[in-house]
Amino acid sequence: MKPTSAPKTYRVKSFGCQMNVYDGERMAELLGERGIAPAPEGEEADLVILNTCHIREKAAEKVYSDIGRLVKAGNKAGKAPMIAVAGCVAQAEGEEIMARAPAVSIVVGPQAYHRLPEMLDKATNGERATDTDMPAIAKFDALPARKKRGPSAFLTVQEGCDKFCTYCVVPYTRGAEISRPFNHLIAEARKLVETGACEITLLGQNVNAWSGEDDKGRPAGLAGLIHALANIDGLERIRYTTSHPNDMDEALIAAHGEVPKLMPYLHLPVQSGSDRVLKAMNRQHTAESYLRLLEQFRAVRPDIALSGDFIVGFPGETEAEFEDTLRIVDQVGYAHAFSFKYSPRPGTPAATMEGQIAPQIMDERLQRLQARIAHHQFAFNKASVGKTCKVLVERTGRNPGQWLGKSPWLQSVWFEGDYAIGDLVEVTLAEAGPNSLMGQVRATLPA
Ligand code: SAH
Ligand code: SF4
Ligand code: F3S
Repeated sequence: MKPTSAPKTYRVKSFGCQMNVYDGERMAELLGERGIAPAPEGEEADLVILNTCHIREKAAEKVYSDIGRLVKAGNKAGKAPMIAVAGCVAQAEGEEIMARAPAVSIVVGPQAYHRLPEMLDKATNGERATDTDMPAIAKFDALPARKKRGPSAFLTVQEGCDKFCTYCVVPYTRGAEISRPFNHLIAEARKLVETGACEITLLGQNVNAWSGEDDKGRPAGLAGLIHALANIDGLERIRYTTSHPNDMDEALIAAHGEVPKLMPYLHLPVQSGSDRVLKAMNRQHTAESYLRLLEQFRAVRPDIALSGDFIVGFPGETEAEFEDTLRIVDQVGYAHAFSFKYSPRPGTPAATMEGQIAPQIMDERLQRLQARIAHHQFAFNKASVGKTCKVLVERTGRNPGQWLGKSPWLQSVWFEGDYAIGDLVEVTLAEAGPNSLMGQVRATLPA
């Protein structure tokens, strides 16, 4: 590569989970410290970071076609951007990317992006730079302070996974489970609140595996952290995602009945309703133990909105086993859920299992599952009509005077009036749609 001028503008394109969004924001903050500014809307950036996801099919192909597109646009504009590949594809296939895509200057894994500034220097000198080291914790200490974002902010508290579900790449791309220290998290949360956040979503690949010591040196789990965060003035709402059924403890369940700032929402993936499939997935829980857990949450917080993740077409899944999944969806009555077709991931045990399911069968099962989930989501929205709740305003709606925000149950709610982003507005949920609700503000309600 030829030496080039140091980039003045950047664009970060994040794919995948919320942790990638968080990482993308932190990379942007690092670049900001170096005086590199976000590229104005519609203009080519000097540096493009593709912050990639490896979880499902064609992840790598997508990266190569994105790189191709950037090179083409750069040639047309007479100046190719510097390209960095970050995220989980960088971690899993970094060497291959370097070999196959000469236009890429930097490959940086999710645990190494704090070293991005040095890598940029190298790339500016015409050297290519790869860093896919794994010790996650060093990264957080090396990052600059948080900058202003919207009213709702992410905060990574836990990273990595030791569970090794047989279909999943995350333990390989994010490494072993680590928890960030309590004091660092309280400090980052305070900073986020100072810069205007009133809602914080705590993130982790298995967020409820977080453990540490509180400010008095006592052992604490996620519930302890949530109790401490709830004492921060100006922080109005706390959420957390994603949890694993086996990392749940009594204290976290109880916190849902004790901490008013903890929102009545739980994302708890189950993946399948069939115990045989769950065993083949190495989930280490059964459908029954999962349902019992949800009952405990409902006992302390009867209005809690439940959400989950599902995989259809895991190797060997029979029609009857798939129907077990439909049944668990009916039993739980999810307010929301994500569902995916099984995707064989290189290097995972399930990829070489017998009984891989034909694509048409997966399509058909996914459609049936999604119809069932949509039915329950709409039912949950309809059952919310008449409730009065606070909505956190996150953006303007389609028409002037219209606002969009989130209910405590994470539903999208739109309403009209004279407000600003970041306001917590009390509304009565007046009309339900499949994906959102219309709210009425007290002042606009008939007396
Ligand atoms: N740690 C979280 C999930 C992280 S990945 C948990 O266990 O709950 C997010 C979701 O992607 C998973 O819950 C799963 O439903 C889906 N997923 C992961 N690997 C997949 C694969 N190989 N094919 C299809 N979906 C997958
Ligand atoms: Fe993947 Fe399972 Fe870990 Fe979740 S718990 S990240 S699905 S291995
Ligand atoms: Fe994707 Fe990595 Fe997140 S594989 S889902 S970006 S942990």
